[in-house]
Amino acid sequence: MASMATDWRDEGERLGADELRALQLERLRWTLQRVYEWVPFYREAFDKAGVRPEDCRTLADLGRFPFTTKADLRDNYPFGMFAVEQSEVRRLHASSGTTGLPTVVGYTEADLSMWSDMVARAIRAAGGRPGHKVHVAYGYGLFTGGLGAHYGAERLGCTVIPASGGMTSRQVRLILDLKPEIIMVTPSYMLTLLDEFERQGVDARTSSLKVGIFGAEPWTEEMRREIEERAGIDAVDIYGLSEVMGPGVAQECVETKDGLHIWEDQFYPEVVDPITGEVLPEGEHGELVFTSLTKQALPIVRYRTRDLTRLLPGTARPAFRRMEKITGRSDDMVILRGVNLFPTQVEEIVLRTPGVAPHFQLRLTREGRMDALTVRAEARPDATPQEREAAARAIAAGMKDGVGVTVGVEIVEPESLERSVGKIKRIVDERKR
Ligand code: DLL
Repeated sequence: MASMATDWRDEGERLGADELRALQLERLRWTLQRVYEWVPFYREAFDKAGVRPEDCRTLADLGRFPFTTKADLRDNYPFGMFAVEQSEVRRLHASSGTTGLPTVVGYTEADLSMWSDMVARAIRAAGGRPGHKVHVAYGYGLFTGGLGAHYGAERLGCTVIPASGGMTSRQVRLILDLKPEIIMVTPSYMLTLLDEFERQGVDARTSSLKVGIFGAEPWTEEMRREIEERAGIDAVDIYGLSEVMGPGVAQECVETKDGLHIWEDQFYPEVVDPITGEVLPEGEHGELVFTSLTKQALPIVRYRTRDLTRLLPGTARPAFRRMEKITGRSDDMVILRGVNLFPTQVEEIVLRTPGVAPHFQLRLTREGRMDALTVRAEARPDATPQEREAAARAIAAGMKDGVGVTVGVEIVEPESLERSVGKIKRIVDERKR
């Protein structure tokens, strides 16, 4: 007998595997045609590679088309990659980037509507339902986090509390007074909020919050455990990037917490070898690449995200493939005496270590011709000098045994490392000074 429970899935989520593949191919061909007609950059790139939109007859044919990179977006700053008249563009966002020009992205009315639908789907997958209150502490503004989450929550039928980032003590007050069930925020800023709860003498586990939807930066299973225990909530992962849309490209389902289902009816994923660009089979680790399937203002073909992960078959949403939690960005990879290392590996070790708080930083320096790395972790306020020493030894040993590198470890005073109010910056690079 069919289950009596309400099925909250939308039309896209109910597609069968074959239906989905057929829809993807149709949308992919539309996208390729559109960019070829409208965007000189793509026309030139396709011509140079000797491919025409019509050459895409199967999904695998996409592999014959050239990649698009952040540098291509910069070279065409600000609007050169747009595929509609400016009067059709309803909103612009921009991603700051660490160097040089920002990347400007745009949305038509239909794009904004699709974005809201995808974020609504994401919040639903996280356990959100119409009538829930959603506290949005992602930054509002050019960053896609705040407004992206906001309109998605409204679309689902939630009550939005548009807190944005910062003013941490007020955030806690708002949560206690307005009693949201859901919070959307970066995991690092969630830690800042949890510290503030403690400072105010309130046990966060007694708050109204039931679910946290965390993303915009890499975070680990250890961080999930830390947040879930201290906040008494379910913590799930949300992924996205401005160039492809913003938050809501992929979402972890609360019932399985086993990686993020990619909303494949809108975004076609590939994982490629970061060096050769070769498309890798499902299950192999590499760089995530996305092609938008319905976007109008800024369609994007084979965008190199620099995010490292692998694709896995769907579970809670069987038609959609999952991506494993992101290990890191290739930009954030530190190469230390030949060993590749990501901040997430340090996070796993620091968060397992007794005596230290979940706040840490990686300091890169140069000693002679060699790079050196110091892990700075904050002592817990109640840690004794002996416990601090033991923590330093445990972190150094964890890095040596688990990652294969020798690092320095500094246990710093409680509250001495800068707190995140949005995306955290883990690496302090002092090599160039
Ligand atoms: O960070 C969009 C977003 C906002 C996603 C809020 C989720 C929640 P950008 O500022 O363009 O957009 O940065 C995109 O952030 O390429 C990843 O490197 C990283 N990132 C985003 N979500 C995750 C995640 C937003 N769940 C870049 N895990 C991406 C790991 C993430 N990294």
